[in-house]
Amino acid sequence: MVLPGGVYGLVKRGLFLLSPERAHVLGMSALRAWGSVCPRAALPSGGPDLSVTSAGLRFAHPVVLAAGFDKDAEAVAGFFGVGFAGVEVGTVTPRPQPGNPAPRLFRLPEARALINRMGFNNHGAEAMAARLRALGRRPGPVGVNLGKNKDTPLERAVEDYVAGVETLGALADYLVINASSPNTPGLRQLQQAEPLRALLSAVKTRVEAISPGTPLFLKIAPDLAPEEVDAIVDVAVEVGIAGLICTNTTLGRPGLTGPVAAEAGGLSGAPLAPLALGTLRRAAARARGRLALWASGGVFTADDVLERIEAGADLVQLYTAFVYEGPFLVRKLVSELRARLTARGLDALPRAHGAAAQGEPRSRSG
Ligand SMILES: Cc1cc2nc3c(=O)[nH]c(=O)nc-3n(C[C@H](O)[C@H](O)[C@H](O)COP(=O)(O)O)c2cc1C
Repeated sequence: MVLPGGVYGLVKRGLFLLSPERAHVLGMSALRAWGSVCPRAALPSGGPDLSVTSAGLRFAHPVVLAAGFDKDAEAVAGFFGVGFAGVEVGTVTPRPQPGNPAPRLFRLPEARALINRMGFNNHGAEAMAARLRALGRRPGPVGVNLGKNKDTPLERAVEDYVAGVETLGALADYLVINASSPNTPGLRQLQQAEPLRALLSAVKTRVEAISPGTPLFLKIAPDLAPEEVDAIVDVAVEVGIAGLICTNTTLGRPGLTGPVAAEAGGLSGAPLAPLALGTLRRAAARARGRLALWASGGVFTADDVLERIEAGADLVQLYTAFVYEGPFLVRKLVSELRARLTARGLDALPRAHGAAAQGEPRSRSG
């Protein structure tokens, strides 16, 4: 925002004295306020072209806000205002729900990681729809990440995702089926081939009826066996969804010990990176350009962004790095990406793997 980069270090010291969830609430207030004064970032221009077209959506550069930060679409303008090229809101469920009891969010600063077991706390699909309707001009794509209510039995999960499409499909530039949160009991079972085929087919059919052409993504876990990733890719291609987001948080605790690491929930940030990258690579090898792949998990630097693009992703989403690096992160990544490309003698990002087959740009943004 208006703070020079180093000053975020001081702000962060203050924020980190608060509980992680309290700090998040304060951060969201600041982002809401920022969005009302600066709903569109003036990023450094000139140099290599960082724009990306994926699944027919155009992004000014490849850094997008991951789901879960703005669960209720309360600060969308603020996230564009700090430079994100796209904003994914949610996970949203059909009915409002409180999520798990606090404490449910934990920092591991030495590891540059977080553990969360939020449990889809959100105001529900209708409240989000009202906020998205009230949004002004969108500087980039706004995606809606859909989930199921905790008290909906797993056998009826499809109904919740379809309800999400009905309420929000026409307001989203893209939709994401979240079948990979570790914090909703049984949810990850929906990634198995049979239930997944039924889920994706039903949701895709509804999307085509409600908002034809809106790209549909599936967000997958980093804890899948390689063969399970293959099976998911095969189902995704067969049903004809636009792509996969690789990945959500992990139930693993790679290289971590101590009481905080023992907290239940999903781990995000630096220690997730190898697992998320491995999953992305496996998906890319199987998909062979037939799906758009978006990377998520442990992206902190421009080199991380380029590594994910070279592994087959069209763009990256991040959450934890924004907590640790602050509001200047996206601006810094954009500058560093340009510098990296210039040093390599490139005038654009390496060719985005999933973009080729996805047609002309489409977006409600402009
Ligand atoms: C506190 C917290 C809440 C999250 N909530 C969601 C969510 O509601 N839906 C979702 O798909 N992913 C959620 N995520 C996962 C992130 O979108 C992202 O995929 C993951 O954290 C890995 O990226 P990162 O290492 O950049 O954080 C959440 C992550 C965190 C840390």
